[in-house]
Amino acid sequence: MGTLSGVRFSGNLFGSPILDHMWSEGHIYNGALRKSILSYEKEAPGNARSNMGGWQSEGGGLKFCGTAGEYFMKHVLEVIDEATARFYAGFARPLEPHSWTLTAWANVNRRGDYNVVHTHPSSTWSGVYYVDGGEPDPDSVGTGLELFDPNPARANLFFPDVSVSNVIFKPQPGAMLLFPSYVPHGVPPHKGSGARISIAFNARKEPFP
Ligand SMILES: [Fe+2]
Repeated sequence: MGTLSGVRFSGNLFGSPILDHMWSEGHIYNGALRKSILSYEKEAPGNARSNMGGWQSEGGGLKFCGTAGEYFMKHVLEVIDEATARFYAGFARPLEPHSWTLTAWANVNRRGDYNVVHTHPSSTWSGVYYVDGGEPDPDSVGTGLELFDPNPARANLFFPDVSVSNVIFKPQPGAMLLFPSYVPHGVPPHKGSGARISIAFNARKEPFP
């Protein structure tokens, strides 16, 4: 600790809020979500987004997941409201009236499928929820989601020995991760014998800047 007088540390600015959450009712709905997603995968062509291999449903309200999808969408909004309230509290600022545009889609990755590093423009929060980890191989803890520092120069050039440039979030069923839409993320090739099933979502605070 330095002792030079007149030098003041103003704080670590320009951080990014990352929140994780375990849905306590996830074990109740994951079976139905899994069944609906795998069934829909057989009948819908799927979209090409960040996925290399694998399948992604169209974005929307998860109508193909029925009641379980409705509960999921409702819960995601609760988590987003909580995260936003905490974020504003951190600045001691009141949260003005607003609404959310929430879009979700299902992802199925089988062995070798991966998602290139990308961001989700035109959104506020982005996130992912795990329905099924996809039976990881014995030598694997599961195919995680990798988040990267949005400012690569920070980790690469500014004291890289102590900076954090990336973190990996494990695909544990029932677990949700929430992050700003500008945070780059990707998924390495799946190492597992089963279908790795997740639901990704974007929440845009209206009015959007
Ligand atoms: Fe993504």
